[in-house]
Amino acid sequence: MAIPRLHFAHLPTPVEELERLREALSGGPRVVVKRDDQTGLAFGGNKTRKLEFLIAEARDQGAKTLISGGALQSNHCRQTAAAAARFGFECILVLTGDIPEQPSANLLLDHLFGAQIVHVTDRKDRDKILQQTFDRAAEDGKKPYLVPYGGSSPTGALGYAFAMKEFVDQNVQADWIVFATSSGGTHAGLVLGQRVFGYKGKVLGISIDESEDWLRAHVSELATAASEKLGNRIEFTPAEVLANADYCKAGYGVLTDPEREAIHLFAKHEGLLLDPVYTGRAAAGMIDLIRQKFFKENETVLFLHTGGQPALFADKYANQI
Ligand SMILES: Cc1ncc(COP(=O)(O)O)c(C=O)c1O
Repeated sequence: MAIPRLHFAHLPTPVEELERLREALSGGPRVVVKRDDQTGLAFGGNKTRKLEFLIAEARDQGAKTLISGGALQSNHCRQTAAAAARFGFECILVLTGDIPEQPSANLLLDHLFGAQIVHVTDRKDRDKILQQTFDRAAEDGKKPYLVPYGGSSPTGALGYAFAMKEFVDQNVQADWIVFATSSGGTHAGLVLGQRVFGYKGKVLGISIDESEDWLRAHVSELATAASEKLGNRIEFTPAEVLANADYCKAGYGVLTDPEREAIHLFAKHEGLLLDPVYTGRAAAGMIDLIRQKFFKENETVLFLHTGGQPALFADKYANQI
């Protein structure tokens, strides 16, 4: 069954050893990283894989405008704006947060890609304003396509189902795949791909901002819906989704010592950049689990680097790192 997809991601992304990080942690499991921060499209990140399917869907529906929403420093919105520029769509982004005097980092890039920004001061109003923005664009004949938050629809999740195929083909033999999970599309795609392409290890999402219960329910639902797009419905249950919400108690985007330590460890021992919101937190969780001996010494843990580094340069984070 042909699934509509554009091909613009730089694939396959490499898998690299993190030998010096392992030494810095005084041993533990073998740790490798899959460089999905190198997927291309405006500094790369996990949204590139999702957007290959989402942009194809938008194009097939005859859309002319991409509309999406997120936080002011949303990586998803930055990559959506870049995809819109690349494939000739208009782009409107509904972003939560106070308007800064001078846009920096992801927000600066959104402007550079020509996106129109709608600011929402209070996050609770975001869904409503996103809908209003969509309705107005439709009335104005702009033929809008709503790219869901984080690109996490069943269509977007397919990006990570196929990432799992790519990974299985790379034959890395990892016992665990550990990564940042938030809107659940990456997680759902990996869980689906695990089943379809026969990955034998475990898929563990470190929550950035959601509870384990919410993630299990949402990811299993999304994986089930995405399986239909592959032509064969598979029922996933919340119980088979692995999620850990021990590391997000400070709240979304709040940089604390564990994230800071993870960012410094990766930078100083591997020359590798993590981001303050997602990969910094997921790596902090992985490091804590290594220290707690959650993984066995003879296991291999693959850290899926989902990108996000432009946020390092956001005024909000730069002076805290
Ligand atoms: C860098 C980065 N990593 C991970 C995630 C989480 O991915 P998902 O929304 O698919 O759960 C995001 C989401 O925006 C992200 O920007």
